[in-house]
Amino acid sequence: MRHKSLLPLLALASLLPAQTVITVDAAHPGPAIAPTMFGIFFEDINFGADGGLYPELIKNRSFEFDDPLAAWKVNLPSDPVKGIGLSPGELDVRTDAPLNANNPHYLHVTALNPGYGFTNAGFRGIGVTAGAEYRFSAYVRTQGPSSLHAAILDSKGHEIGTGTLTGFDGTWKRYETVIRTSATEPKAQFSIFMDQKGSLDLDMVSLFPVDTWNHRPNGLRKDLVQLLADMHPGFIRFPGGCIVEGRRLANRYQWKKTVGDISERKTIMNRWNDEFDHRPTPDYFQSFGLGFYEYFQLAEDIGAAPLPILNCGMACQFNSSETAKLDEIHEYIQDALDLIEFANGPADSPWGKVRAQMGHSAPFHLTMIGVGNEQWGPRYLERYKLFNDALKASHPEIQLIVAAGPSPSGTQFDELWSYWRAHHADIVDEHYYMAPQWFLSNSNRYDNYDRSGPKVFAGEYAAQSAGVALPTNRNNWQTALAEAAFMTGLERNADVVRMASYAPLLAHAEAWQWTPDAIWFDNLRSFGTTDYQVQKIFATNTGTRVVPSTPRAENGLYTVASLDDRTHELILTAVNVSGDARSVQLQLIGVTPAGSARVTTLGTSDLSAENSLEHPDTVAPVVSTLEMPSATVAIPLKPNTVTVFRVPVH
Ligand code: AHR
Repeated sequence: MRHKSLLPLLALASLLPAQTVITVDAAHPGPAIAPTMFGIFFEDINFGADGGLYPELIKNRSFEFDDPLAAWKVNLPSDPVKGIGLSPGELDVRTDAPLNANNPHYLHVTALNPGYGFTNAGFRGIGVTAGAEYRFSAYVRTQGPSSLHAAILDSKGHEIGTGTLTGFDGTWKRYETVIRTSATEPKAQFSIFMDQKGSLDLDMVSLFPVDTWNHRPNGLRKDLVQLLADMHPGFIRFPGGCIVEGRRLANRYQWKKTVGDISERKTIMNRWNDEFDHRPTPDYFQSFGLGFYEYFQLAEDIGAAPLPILNCGMACQFNSSETAKLDEIHEYIQDALDLIEFANGPADSPWGKVRAQMGHSAPFHLTMIGVGNEQWGPRYLERYKLFNDALKASHPEIQLIVAAGPSPSGTQFDELWSYWRAHHADIVDEHYYMAPQWFLSNSNRYDNYDRSGPKVFAGEYAAQSAGVALPTNRNNWQTALAEAAFMTGLERNADVVRMASYAPLLAHAEAWQWTPDAIWFDNLRSFGTTDYQVQKIFATNTGTRVVPSTPRAENGLYTVASLDDRTHELILTAVNVSGDARSVQLQLIGVTPAGSARVTTLGTSDLSAENSLEHPDTVAPVVSTLEMPSATVAIPLKPNTVTVFRVPVH
């Protein structure tokens, strides 16, 4: 369906005054805007970590999926592998004398003749680029064959890169070599061939790009981190979302199991793998190669404050709702205390030492922790109280984020809020997955919130074009523009709203469970959606102090303004959700323009427009300049656009 305007029922043009006036009163600056204002929400959903941000190319590298041979198969004559690797042999999965207790399964390979081969399918194939380097590594144990050969094969079975591991002995050791690929292939496969007859044991079989973000050996996928860095996010929330809670407590997120040597991080099922019948992904597990150290490192790399969310002793209330007994909560609280030490403690403290041994002796400057994800009800409040008492007693410097449940209103929401107000909670995490119209109607949501009560974290939100968790939701300009209108109200109320993040962040185009998402990718490409573009334009155009602007939200025009003390600019964001171009007069009060304005316009009159892997820039910012001869100028606002004016002032 194509839309002409978000206000189709209104004969908008007839309602508009001949010329709209936007007034920005810099003589009366309002509240400070926290540097954390607009950030990002990361969750390992939609292959966001394994298969996405964490660029390991081998799926089930440690043979720890429920089916230990998932993604692995013996080469067959019918496979497009050019007749190589077809000698007889056998694969079996063993558990005796494993690599370590957290990694109990390994692959025992027996070649009856040289040339026996087997292949890994990758995450919906393996994406490689011509001329790039990939580190092939594995733990090997054998008293037989002395080398192992590997090949990256294109979709027709031609070798486009090879490497050899040699020098094995009878104990588990890690071996590596670098393979350079000769062609670009989004759906490559990775085959391992036995060079000699005999048996060997294999574990942690890895093919990892050498060129990661900041060249880290266990680093992150560059193009995806670049998209995140381009947003200049104020914070990064991790690792979710419902993944924090688990469907049962047994598969909740436990940060301590995600740090240290990657071979010792125990793989578990990803809770999203068969959550939705419409998008089953039974091959979705968590290797934790991207674990808490890597999250903190990412936060530091992109200049975002780290915001970990921890399980509070409750599994997802949409699933089992399993709840730890009150006398078991100390274990969960200890995890939180230890996390603070891991992030901030001296390098010779027990957990600070783990951080230092991983390569970061300086602290990560953790200032906030979420207690539970999207919890509600009395059981949550009882558990929160125990967390709060223990954490505030030993770490009053850490702000606690608490939940407001899954909905932006209703009985659960109200009960939680009255408790948070009565108990002086620090920051309350509100979630809204609502229709575009809700976002348009709620830009004033925080105008009347209690200024002296708890602060707000708009921790998860996204306009749903079809309905929550429906696979037909789209990331189009209609959803993004509605979010933009709403975000003017978040920024304007910066004294109440400390942080906000769109959710979810990432989705693999062939392996997603939840839509809409900010960024989509396949094995080689990625793009920011229309909604991402809105997040980015707000996050990169937020000043240090709100200044009043009018109209706030009137006749399809939403505005917010701020002063930036760092750059001495006045920043006006105007969101025009009408399908008509508008002739607007801008009046600046209390400041004088000191040069021409930088104008960034984002949008299209076509509300159904979407960005895509093939057309990533259908909706992208366009930059121009506007002469500012005086404090009153005419500014054009195109139909259905977000326009940011950055005016140097004195
Ligand atoms: O963002 C997807 C899910 O929506 C999150 O995991 C959860 O917190 C919310 O219900």
